[in-house]
Amino acid sequence: MRHPALDVIQDEHQALAAMLRSMSLLVAHAQREGQVPDFSVLRAMLFYVDEFPERLHHPKESELLFPRVLARCPALADTLARLDADHGRGEAAIRSLEHALLAYEVLGASRQQAFVDALEGYVNGYLSHMAIEESEILPAARAHLTEADWAALDAAFATNRDPLTGHAADDVFRPLFRKIVMTAPAPIGLG
Ligand SMILES: [Fe+2]
Ligand SMILES: [Fe+2]
Repeated sequence: MRHPALDVIQDEHQALAAMLRSMSLLVAHAQREGQVPDFSVLRAMLFYVDEFPERLHHPKESELLFPRVLARCPALADTLARLDADHGRGEAAIRSLEHALLAYEVLGASRQQAFVDALEGYVNGYLSHMAIEESEILPAARAHLTEADWAALDAAFATNRDPLTGHAADDVFRPLFRKIVMTAPAPIGLG
């Protein structure tokens, strides 16, 4: 049985993982060349992470998916609490990464390593968060949620409109996505 909510979650994980890996690659490439990275595209990429996954994806997991999984699978309580705590820290985490990026941009080399370390921690933390959701939470949901659970989840997740998962970007976001795709390296972009 297919559940549109699960498709949305997995598509968004893929888009987000691609964006995170592209950020790391862009920074690593600039380091290898002994140059500064393209700050404007890095800012655009962080803005994307802040604007879509942080505001759409995580709240729906925490508010709609996790409580239902907890009700059906109480043994997952600790894991769900840890993932929830990650969501709760998400805004502070991206704000501090944005600050580290800005420090590198305006102060230069003295702040380079701090930013590189902050990015690496952020990317690894995010990837392992999603890996736990995919290996533990989504399979439990698939096995134990009820039809009524799925009806509510499918309706809620269908309203997610992340432009990187195949939805047309709203006009206001179109220049942002053009910039990211034209400048960033694969897997997200063509640069
Ligand atoms: Fe999550
Ligand atoms: Fe997630």
